[in-house]
Amino acid sequence: MVLRLDKILSDMGWGTRKETRKLIKKGLVSVNSIIIRDPAYKVNPDESNIQVGEEKVVYQKYIYVMLNKPAGYLSATEDETAMTVLDLLSPQDRAFHPFPVGRLDKDTEGLLIITNDGKLGHILTTPKKKVPKTYYAVVKGRVTEEDREAFALGVVLEDGYKTKPGELTIVKEGETSEIKLVIYEGKYHQVKRMFRAVGKEVLYLKRLGMGELFLDESLELGQYRQLREKELELLCAR
Ligand code: URA
Repeated sequence: MVLRLDKILSDMGWGTRKETRKLIKKGLVSVNSIIIRDPAYKVNPDESNIQVGEEKVVYQKYIYVMLNKPAGYLSATEDETAMTVLDLLSPQDRAFHPFPVGRLDKDTEGLLIITNDGKLGHILTTPKKKVPKTYYAVVKGRVTEEDREAFALGVVLEDGYKTKPGELTIVKEGETSEIKLVIYEGKYHQVKRMFRAVGKEVLYLKRLGMGELFLDESLELGQYRQLREKELELLCAR
């Protein structure tokens, strides 16, 4: 794959195209130890040693991160007023033009995969693949065995849609309950609406897992990290 030198640098977070053009024209960029001053110079980044000053440019086409999404951020790439999950990424990582895979509500926390790999995004969100999504929730009201059975059969939402079976585990029963729920589809506000269908209200919601990938609990809210090779393999194996 042969690309323009200014594009490679801006894709890797060295600045806008205008800025990387300037860097190149100033003679700060070398390819295989030869200073290149032409921004349109074509190079295969996988086979060449590109450097800005002493710093090697490692070319990567795709980015895959797991974010521990905090409440208050939209699962979108841009918004006129609200902060989006991309605001939590560094400028270098944003330069890959990534997008969140699937949506978490503004007030939902937990695992969100962010990538610029459209193919993986599609695999994980297409209803055909029935990718499991695991949630933890705090629910107002006593979640019961009957709710577990109702979820296992599928519940009818307020718009008449009958959900696919979900696996409900009661973690703590009480006036306020704690549960885990695995669902295989991703309708709008699905978990909250499933509880509403059995007369209960979700007070707090966090996604723990998507497919076989689970949130790294060492990530603080708002923190993220690149997926490890093994984790990516788990997701791509679908
Ligand atoms: N279900 C919801 O209700 N909200 C989410 O953010 C995810 C699943």
